[in-house]
Amino acid sequence: MPRTETGVQPGEPPEPKDLRPWGVVAADLPDPSTGRIGPDFFFPGRDTSRPFELEIGSGKGTFLVQEAATRAGSDFLGVEYAGEFFRHAADRVRRRGMAHVRLLYADAVEFVRHWVADGCVSVVHLYFSDPWPKKRHHKRRVVQLDTLAEFHRVLRPAGELRLVTDHPDLWAWYEERVPQVAHLFERRPFERPASAGEGEVVGTNFERKYRREGRPFHAMTLVRRG
Ligand SMILES: C[S@@+](CC[C@H](N)C(=O)[O-])C[C@H]1O[C@@H](n2cnc3c(N)ncnc32)[C@H](O)[C@@H]1O
Repeated sequence: MPRTETGVQPGEPPEPKDLRPWGVVAADLPDPSTGRIGPDFFFPGRDTSRPFELEIGSGKGTFLVQEAATRAGSDFLGVEYAGEFFRHAADRVRRRGMAHVRLLYADAVEFVRHWVADGCVSVVHLYFSDPWPKKRHHKRRVVQLDTLAEFHRVLRPAGELRLVTDHPDLWAWYEERVPQVAHLFERRPFERPASAGEGEVVGTNFERKYRREGRPFHAMTLVRRG
């Protein structure tokens, strides 16, 4: 069972019956041996020209609902493995009746690795990812050389991986790995999304909390080569 650093244990999968179709649980996914899936799985009958964006670790869904409200022309999937946060975010989307936003209760790294089809994602958002500061836990960090290769695989050409953190060690970890995948990604400055508030980098829940504490933030965008 995955664990989080946020004090919320994943626990049992939430009862999905009231959250469908806004909330999907990993058990709803097809057996990966039957082939990979694209955005149509979450948005049946969608116009295939619509961009599909993935947020990893969407927490309470603040960024997702804010950003999706400004961009009705894109489809968004938030992946969250803490049950309480998943339920909270899916419920926010349900209450707003957002047909272009879905939440998935799953380990996002496993989901990307085993389920997501090649070249179908326009943007991967990864904001305030758990830093796992102890050395023996570094392997739990979302960004690893192999996950960067997976993000490259699922992104469309010129698709983006967008990273923001407050954590100096995690930022150093990113800075160390990015040159090692320079053949896969070009590094560019981070551009604030349309939904960010005054003075915000991206405007997630954690950013707002840490901003009150006066923490500085670090951000970059990696653009898929090839
Ligand atoms: C520090 S919180 C940040 C939440 C949100 N992005 C924000 O900035 O407010 C990190 C979130 O990522 C989730 N998370 C961490 N690793 C994950 C993974 N591999 N798959 C899905 N969710 C993950 C945690 O459960 C937690 O909700």
